[in-house]
Amino acid sequence: MNVGKIKEGDTVLVSGAAGAVGSVVGQIAKIKGCRVIGIAGGPEKCRYIKEELGFDGAIDYKNEDLKAGMKRTCPKGIDVYFDNVGGETLNTALIFLRKKARVVICGAISQYNAKAIEAPSNYLSLLVNSASMEGFVIFDFMDEYKSAAIQIGKWMQSGQLKSKEQIFEGIDNFYEVFLRLFSGEKLGKLILKV
Ligand SMILES: NC(=O)c1ccc[n+]([C@@H]2O[C@H](COP(=O)([O-])OP(=O)(O)OC[C@H]3O[C@@H](n4cnc5c(N)ncnc54)[C@H](OP(=O)(O)O)[C@@H]3O)[C@@H](O)[C@H]2O)c1
Repeated sequence: MNVGKIKEGDTVLVSGAAGAVGSVVGQIAKIKGCRVIGIAGGPEKCRYIKEELGFDGAIDYKNEDLKAGMKRTCPKGIDVYFDNVGGETLNTALIFLRKKARVVICGAISQYNAKAIEAPSNYLSLLVNSASMEGFVIFDFMDEYKSAAIQIGKWMQSGQLKSKEQIFEGIDNFYEVFLRLFSGEKLGKLILKV
């Protein structure tokens, strides 16, 4: 993928930052020498991504205005925005794009249950900043799974990459556990053991 390519010194903003995908994305961006800001819901998740995962900053979108938070944490703007959330979060991030910025659309969890998908009205920021936005689907990268698994394994062994799992037991609990994806009552990767 071209749009997600990061380089040392880039400011990378990640939403869903305390989750399974976002926490790994942010840590890899840190390993690659970027300045990384995460968006997560609540003080405990923000503390986790900063103190345990080494993010440079956090925006608690449940307790801080998104625009004010992005202005505070990305004063020079955003080079890469990795989006797991969509909706107002994506729309606000577009305001802060730098020239040639890249927006990676990985997910849009705020929109999955919406009757009408909220489209980003600030999309002209892509035009004026010569920026790009591209969808990311994991299955497009099957050829790279093996090398990625080896590299990720090395980073985990060396402690550069951390992963938290929250495991619940029993298929009977599927519905209650599934809803945690949307309420955010979870940290790291949510697993249902059957
Ligand atoms: N493209 C692909 O190949 C691919 C593959 C796997 C997953 N995905 C997508 O990647 C995203 C993250 O997946 P994941 O498995 O890592 O999930 P996750 O981040 O572990 O869990 C979902 C998190 O989303 C946040 N959230 C829920 N509703 C929200 C809302 N309305 N506004 C803002 N944040 C909200 C919650 O965190 P807070 O407590 O911080 O709000 C929740 O913990 C999802 O959109 C998923 O569909 C894409």
